[in-house]
This record gives sequence, structure tokens and C-alpha cells, in this order.
Amino acid sequence: MKDLLRTEDLSRTDVELLLATATEFAEHPLKAKEALAHRTVAIYMTKPSTRTRLASETAVAHLGGTPIFIRGDELQIGRGETIADTARVISGFASAMIIRTYAQSDVDELGKYATIPIINGLTDQDHPTQLLADWLTIREVFGSDISGRKFTYVGDGNNMAHAWLTMGAILGAHVVVATPSGAWAPDSEAVATAQKIAAKTGATVEVLHDPEAAAKDASVLYTDVWMSMGDPESERTEKLKALSPFAVTAELMSLTAADGIFLHCLPAHRGEEVSAEVIDGPRSYIWREAYHRRSTIQAILYHLVRGELEGNIFD
Ligand code: CP
Ligand code: NVA
Repeated sequence: MKDLLRTEDLSRTDVELLLATATEFAEHPLKAKEALAHRTVAIYMTKPSTRTRLASETAVAHLGGTPIFIRGDELQIGRGETIADTARVISGFASAMIIRTYAQSDVDELGKYATIPIINGLTDQDHPTQLLADWLTIREVFGSDISGRKFTYVGDGNNMAHAWLTMGAILGAHVVVATPSGAWAPDSEAVATAQKIAAKTGATVEVLHDPEAAAKDASVLYTDVWMSMGDPESERTEKLKALSPFAVTAELMSLTAADGIFLHCLPAHRGEEVSAEVIDGPRSYIWREAYHRRSTIQAILYHLVRGELEGNIFD
């Protein structure tokens, strides 16, 4: 496996290895402090970022390398240089590249032409690095035996909903996504991918439109912003209205399992997709989750650069 372009690029063995390494890096950040010595990692972002940028730059530093952060408007891509040419040039300078942008096809193209590992740091379709931090947090709370547990996401059928379904399927979990029907449901292609993987791993994938049914007895109740980066402002009023029944309130949270926890990839909008009472309450693990962004990205960089991931075995 050369790149992490999509969540489904990872096998279950890869996820287990990444989580084990990330656990070590969480405790001992400098455990592999020479792994990227005298090497650079390009971090190119055409959308804003707090966590992914900070986690990526810190991860590279802890591996002994130098991060080169490049804003979207700073490359010649904006003046018409092709992604293929850009990929070839960056491959000559950096040992890996993390990219955050809009179109998944741009990330796929970069992966095709670059000779170095390309890591998806969020697209409109997917957010694979986030899911590793989420599952590291889940494992810390519940351990690795997830049988009989239900893992629910409620809200917009966006990149996070897609990644939630796919990672849950890879790990053989019972995953549920509840969204409004129609325009804000997850993409059918993403659901089909998760279902295909679930058929091989024994996972259960459910896509619902009823937030109460989804929250009932869940071990994790997860949500994300209702307006993602790049979503058209013209849709805001209609979208927020459609999503309002999916807000994670204390009432919705009370339907979860007795030991159920709340997660959110952040940034959050209190009073919109989640109430302050829930996100700032005792069942919320959001700060641990955000902290794990660094050690999980560090693990991805460590193993991808060393060529130690086997990649998708689900096709
Ligand atoms: N969760 C996440 O990706 O956060 P940022 O957008 O701040 O990177
Ligand atoms: N769905 C959100 C996730 C942010 C981490 C977005 O794409 O803006």
C-alpha cells in the first residue's frame, strides 16, 4: 500500500497495527524520533484546519522530520499547473504528502502520479485519519471486544458519515448512521462500499432516518457539523431545518447505553448539532479524541513511509 487516499484503502490488519503504534506514540511521542530524520513531509491544504494541521506538523516533528505547510493558494496549481506535474515535483523533495481539499478525484490523481505516500487529510467524501483517532478513543473506553455494541453517527450524511460507516465495517462493528432522507443522506456509493466490506468482515451497517432509533442503546453517539467546509450557504436554512431533529441533546443522549459516550470530530457548533450540556458533559470524550489526532497521524506516516501497510483486501 503506497497511499491512504480513502478509508477503505485500509485492511483490518492495517487498522490494528496503526492503532497499536498510535497507542505507543500517544504515551511516548519521541519513540521513533529518527524515523524521518533529515526528511520532509509536505502538508497541502485548500481548506481551513486546526486539528489536522497541528497534529500533522507535530507528528512529523516527533518523527524527526520537517513539515512543510503549503496553503491552497501558494502552489502553481492555482495558476494552471497540473496535479500530475505537481505530484512529480513534490515527490522529489518530500517523503510523504498530506492533502486536505474538496474533490476526492484530486487526491486520487495526486496518488496516481506521486511516487511518495499521499495521505487524505479530508475531502468532501472522506476523512480517514480522523477515524483512527475516533477508534483509538473508543478502544480506550471500551477495550477491543466490541461484540454486542452499537456505534451510531447522527446528522449530515457527509464525509464523516461515509468514513464512520467504512471504518466500522472494516472493524466488524455494528455501525449505524441516521440522517435526513434525500439530499443530506450519505452517498449511495459510500454506503455500498461499507456494505461490501461488511459482508466480508461480519459487520452490520445500518442507514436510518430516525435519530431516536439510531441512538437507542448505542455505546457511541457521534455527530459532526451540519454545514461542512464548501457546503453552499444558499442551502443553510433548508439544511438546518432538515437536520434539527438530529441534534444531539441530553434527551437523545439519554437513549444510549448506560455507559454510552459522546464523540465529535470538531469543530463543533454548540446549540446546533450538539447541546453544550452534552459536549461539555461527563460522557463527552472529545478532548481525548482530538489529542489522538497526533499519535494516529504519526502512526500512519511511520508505517506508510516504511511500506508496512498491506492495503485494501476487500475487492
Ligand atoms: N477534525 C478535524 O479534522 O479538525 P480540523 O478541521 O480542525 O482539522
Ligand atoms: N464535515 C466537516 C468535518 C470537519 C472536520 C467538514 O468537512 O467541514
